[in-house]
Amino acid sequence: MHISKYFCNFARFLLIRVIMEPTLPTKTNFETLCQQRRSIRKYTSEPVSQQQLDYILRCALMSPSSKRTNPWEFFVQGSAKTIRDLAGCKTYGSQMFETAQAAIAVALDASLTDTWQADGAIAAEHILLAAEDCGLGACWCHIYQREGSEALAREVFGIPENLHILCVISLGHKDEERKPYDPEKLMYNKIHTI
Ligand SMILES: Cc1cc2nc3c(=O)[nH]c(=O)nc-3n(C[C@H](O)[C@H](O)[C@H](O)COP(=O)(O)O)c2cc1C
Repeated sequence: MHISKYFCNFARFLLIRVIMEPTLPTKTNFETLCQQRRSIRKYTSEPVSQQQLDYILRCALMSPSSKRTNPWEFFVQGSAKTIRDLAGCKTYGSQMFETAQAAIAVALDASLTDTWQADGAIAAEHILLAAEDCGLGACWCHIYQREGSEALAREVFGIPENLHILCVISLGHKDEERKPYDPEKLMYNKIHTI
């Protein structure tokens, strides 16, 4: 092969792997990921990178949904200053937005399927696991049918009225330690083998 062809191939490799779609350090073992994913509500001031957001959103878009209706829409807020407004979206349980560096609202079109809440919850879980996988902390803040929360989230993300907002997920680099789940202490009594 001519030397210039080698160079072209190498340049294309660099473009795809390094510039367009950089590989993120990820944990490969799914059980380890499930063990280590905990709700993280305190974050450092280090920003969430665009690569990390892209990775998380790609994983969200691979969520299963009833009859492949894909009723979800993901609204991303990367301005830490704007995210602070969400800290007041409920009296308890929204403190994660005091330090979050990014937030993703999971909104759903209920006219597409009666399973929209289930579809939204699965997508939200993909986001939580993907965040852990790329080294971030995350937490689900419930919005749907929480008085005042939905109106504020709608305003912060500019979400149209035809979509329900199930939850907003806070994201950031962890500033608190949570113990991973211990496989020895799981509630095995929840399993009913017939
Ligand atoms: C449907 C749902 C709603 C939740 N709502 C909130 C919330 O509004 N605020 C909050 O701080 N955490 C919320 N969480 C996080 C739970 O409190 C958390 O998942 C639970 O305590 C278990 O802890 P872990 O995530 O660390 O395993 C919610 C989780 C789920 C699945």
